[in-house]
Amino acid sequence: MAKFRKIGILTSGGDAPGMNAAIRAVARKALDEGVEVVGILGGYSGLIKDKTIDFNPRTVSNIISRGGTVLYSDRCPEFKTEAGMKKAIETCYRHEIDAIVAMGGDGTFRGATDLTNRGIPTIGIPCTIDNDITATDYTIGFDSAMNTTLNMIDCLRDTCESHKRCNVVEVMGRDCGQIALYTAMASGAVAAVIPEVPFDEGELLARMKQLLVAGKRSYLVVVSEGVLTADGKKYGEILSKKIESDLGIESRFARFAHVVRGGSPSLRDRFTATRMGVCAVECLLEGKSNLVICERDSKIVEMDINYALAADRMYKNRLKDGDLDGFDAESIERMKALSLQRKENIETVYRVVGETSK
Ligand code: ADP
Ligand code: F6P
Repeated sequence: MAKFRKIGILTSGGDAPGMNAAIRAVARKALDEGVEVVGILGGYSGLIKDKTIDFNPRTVSNIISRGGTVLYSDRCPEFKTEAGMKKAIETCYRHEIDAIVAMGGDGTFRGATDLTNRGIPTIGIPCTIDNDITATDYTIGFDSAMNTTLNMIDCLRDTCESHKRCNVVEVMGRDCGQIALYTAMASGAVAAVIPEVPFDEGELLARMKQLLVAGKRSYLVVVSEGVLTADGKKYGEILSKKIESDLGIESRFARFAHVVRGGSPSLRDRFTATRMGVCAVECLLEGKSNLVICERDSKIVEMDINYALAADRMYKNRLKDGDLDGFDAESIERMKALSLQRKENIETVYRVVGETSK
């Protein structure tokens, strides 16, 4: 049945809890189907530098619960160059790697499609804490990162309540505010400040003033790292100072940064990683490639990578001339619907955070 004799697995870009569970699922499923498995170390740079390890079913024992990635990860600008790509393809030929499963975010998928175009069929699995890939409702790592964030915010709540303070928390997510938005809702924060929705600073300060008068002791504000001032500075720390100076509420600032990218993956992430990993191998065995495995309406589905990347650029207003060439009218309408649905979902949660923090 197997069209492929050997597949490579790599993890690339920012690591995410659940990558190991996905590696395990791909390896176990492929080996079970009689396909050899090679781990490529350090993302695309491992392909360029020929750093690989052979897998057997025991290589992936006991990694399902571990954070990080046993294959290591990297950001590798050289892979975008012609010379880098040539070395990567040579490594595939040298090891007789017939296909690759690449785990990461949108940058990783751009690399994946380049590999497919050069004759190495590649399939992407979305792994990033940011949940910022438009084609999929969910990216592996999002739930774990949010739970870690939430636990830390809950700790801040305790000390804020004792000391009658505010804590402004800055969380990762790049240009996507979902980690900030969801954890703000779940921690009972007074506000989420995210790149996707215009923020009314005056309204927040007025509301906090009212709450102070009404006897509220602790205040939490969760700000996404992607929110910047007009002169490009990160907004969270500035807002914290403003709360203290304008309202007289003592305010502290905390930047959680990379800490929420580590730690043991949640059940949600292990579960999704396992389903997506198995689906990726099944697709390859069916002769399919240049796909990204997605979750849509709780189902694991495959989508063309080029379609997924174009939908992503559409949502992020980054479409360039020609990006939609080659897609029929129906596909473009579906991309528009995806973008709209994503925007509406975020706006709905944002509204609820506002409605429940008065
Ligand atoms: P993520 O996959 O999390 O979005 P990056 O944007 O850093 O993370 O991308 C991961 C890697 O994917 C990069 O280091 C690079 O090797 C590769 N990559 C990114 N963009 C491209 C591109 N346009 N073409 C080819 N490879 C790319
Ligand atoms: O994409 C994941 C992510 O953690 C973002 O949330 C963050 O902006 C970025 O990666 C940080 O990148 P680095 O690990 O290179 O500092």
